[in-house]
Amino acid sequence: MTLKDRCRVIQFADFGDERGKLVVIEGNQAIPFKIKRVFYIYDSDSTVVRGQHANKESEFVLINVAGQSKVRITDGKEEFIVELNKPMMGVYIPKMIWKDMYDFSSDSVLLVLASTHYDGKEYIRNYDDYLKIMGEIHD
Ligand code: TYD
Repeated sequence: MTLKDRCRVIQFADFGDERGKLVVIEGNQAIPFKIKRVFYIYDSDSTVVRGQHANKESEFVLINVAGQSKVRITDGKEEFIVELNKPMMGVYIPKMIWKDMYDFSSDSVLLVLASTHYDGKEYIRNYDDYLKIMGEIHD
């Protein structure tokens, strides 16, 4: 399976009517895990790069509920970039995938749904360490 197939872009159902729009995301339905944690990132801008880590245990879905940002996704071999610019789209990021979030618009609110409670110990924050681990996994 290619990296793009694994980290798929998900289009959420949009219950729009004349009163406005409503997007629903239910764990284990629209996204492939039970949601244990929600956080959001705002007040970032086009000069910063966030993320820069891979997670041993956590799966994520990233959604720009306002504004836009980009996510660079890699497994150390393949790489692709997703532009998050609609509240009804998200990108699913499985375990052990490296991600960088950048190019935030000033109105960007990046919502993140996670499959785990926070545990700083499951983060790999050094790219060389990540490549080493992935090399061992790939080989
Ligand atoms: P960080 O992982 O650097 O954010 P990003 O992935 O967007 O670059 O997290 C920033 C700070 O927030 C860091 O001190 C850890 C803390 N944090 C929590 O306490 N709980 C969480 O669920 C998250 C995502 C971060």
